[in-house]
Amino acid sequence: MKGIILAGGSATRLYPVTLSVSKQMLPIYDKPMIYYPLSTLMMAGIRDVLVISTPIHLPAFERLLGTGEDLGMHFEYKVQEKPVGLADAFKLGEDFIGNDSVALILGDNMIYGSNLEKVLKEASKLKKGGIIFGYKVADPTSYGVVEIDKKGNAISIEEKPKKPKSNLAVPGIYFYDNDVVSIAKKIEPSERGELEITDINKEYMKQGKLRVIPLGNGYAWFDTGSPERLLDASDFVKAIEVRQGIQIACLEEYAYKNKWISKEKVLLHAKKYNKTEYGKYLKSVIEEKTWN
Ligand code: TTP
Repeated sequence: MKGIILAGGSATRLYPVTLSVSKQMLPIYDKPMIYYPLSTLMMAGIRDVLVISTPIHLPAFERLLGTGEDLGMHFEYKVQEKPVGLADAFKLGEDFIGNDSVALILGDNMIYGSNLEKVLKEASKLKKGGIIFGYKVADPTSYGVVEIDKKGNAISIEEKPKKPKSNLAVPGIYFYDNDVVSIAKKIEPSERGELEITDINKEYMKQGKLRVIPLGNGYAWFDTGSPERLLDASDFVKAIEVRQGIQIACLEEYAYKNKWISKEKVLLHAKKYNKTEYGKYLKSVIEEKTWN
């Protein structure tokens, strides 16, 4: 399975901060935002990742993440000329996806939970259809909202409904089979002029092929696109990292756990970061002190 991180967009809710800086480069506590969705793909065992961003911001992501070799991964980069919608990712990513299945994650989404790795690894085994997630929220009216049957199949999806049919919001991570490329090519821009991911999900749903995995209690999901949420996410990461002495979204940890890089490589990274908690944590990763 391939992975795509969508890290373009306009980020108008974060103006003036994002007038010249990419939203997905802003720090969530102690790391660039894009580390969080990237680590989520790595948790799913995804090694080939395409980063999509604007013509102005893409070079900064290339400088930050490089070829992926340092993590035993493979990164590619693609410009999205205009923010025409989330579903555009599959058109832009057509060559990269090839004949594979693909996971899309939004560059400003952070998901955290103790069972997450297992859930994502399971989802990444997908051969047919699509898998999305459902996250229980108190007020679903500002999200994509999914309703499911007893078997976990999606039976309705609505974008920002005034009267939601369920309290399950759809987080920005989606797994699809290879049909997603041809589906993306067929959909038309919505009333707001965007190629909507909801329209892709509706097509899978129409074919009876859209499974929803409810993320039960004990998961945290942040869409970090507004100042309040950005700060909430930073507070959350800080609280866990400082209290437990661990690192969230430590890329080298997942690369090492997935056996993509050696102990020696982790140590090299640790040296580079030796003035930080991140560096100290990396040393403990190879001493296997951090795993439960
Ligand atoms: P949004 O948060 O919906 O949009 P935005 O980032 O442009 O922000 P704002 O509403 O403040 O103007 O986008 C979700 C994620 O998807 C985010 O990481 C940006 C990315 N994105 C793209 O890369 N290309 C696109 O065409 C769109 C619509 C979003």
